[in-house]
Amino acid sequence: MDMLKKLFSLEGKVVLITGGAQGIGKAVAEHIAAVGADLVIFDKQGEKAQAAAKAISKEYQRKAIAFEVDVTKPEEIAAAIEKADAEMGKLDLLFNNAGIVLQKPVVDLEPNEWLKVIDVNLNGIFFVAQAFGRYLISRNKEGAIVNTASMSGTIVNYPQRQASYNTSKAAVVQLTKSLAVEWADKGIRVNCISPGYIFTELTSFVREDWQDLWKELTPTKRMGKPEELAGAVIYLLSDSASFATGTDLIIDGGFTIV
Ligand SMILES: NC(=O)c1ccc[n+]([C@@H]2O[C@H](COP(=O)([O-])OP(=O)(O)OC[C@H]3O[C@@H](n4cnc5c(N)ncnc54)[C@H](O)[C@@H]3O)[C@@H](O)[C@H]2O)c1
Repeated sequence: MDMLKKLFSLEGKVVLITGGAQGIGKAVAEHIAAVGADLVIFDKQGEKAQAAAKAISKEYQRKAIAFEVDVTKPEEIAAAIEKADAEMGKLDLLFNNAGIVLQKPVVDLEPNEWLKVIDVNLNGIFFVAQAFGRYLISRNKEGAIVNTASMSGTIVNYPQRQASYNTSKAAVVQLTKSLAVEWADKGIRVNCISPGYIFTELTSFVREDWQDLWKELTPTKRMGKPEELAGAVIYLLSDSASFATGTDLIIDGGFTIV
């Protein structure tokens, strides 16, 4: 095996990806399949997730399946993990990525809007990680988890008002570190990526003058592409990262350093 393959191959692995119907999850799923893994996608948009799995399977000649799962529902997650295990034979790695954003000033925010963002972005990440951890630990299996946080866990975005999102992502970073310590002796590594502004369905609806300002505030003067996160996720999932746990890998075109 050549060195590149030895370092970053995911051959023989089965990777569970949440929020893989579109955006970052879908782009990373394609790259994960390209480096040899089979895939399971969980997404609230069931049909779109199934179409993504079918297309990836065809393109990369890997097994890829999808289930309609709401990450805020622990029972749905547990049942889908059992089904996925039965269909794939095993699960090894998790890219825990589903998330939503809400831009609204705090004074206008309704209680249910705050709760919704926290529910998907924090509780959802927790419930999926918990179910996956239980799955691995009950089978005495080692593994790795990459959570999608955000640079919004470190900085406060401007000019949009999104306190619920920023708070949820800061919590994901701390949850990642907590799980990394709690599961270190089980051989389960837990890391997160913190993207800067990435052009996806999540950000495409935003006013153009704000997008221009985001680019201006980013040293590289542009937004990132979803595929520019794939290498980081593959690294953190792969054996190359065998000594990396509790890491928050910020990938933001330099936004947070200025
Ligand atoms: N786009 C960015 O600029 C950016 C920056 C930093 C972090 N992120 C994070 O990256 C992740 C992916 O974002 P994206 O830009 O690809 O967004 P996206 O909206 O394009 O994709 C998110 C996916 O998550 C799914 N999803 C949402 N709620 C769900 C739920 N309750 N259960 C299951 N699936 C659910 C959606 O159906 C969708 O397929 C999110 O966690 C987001 O917060 C995005």
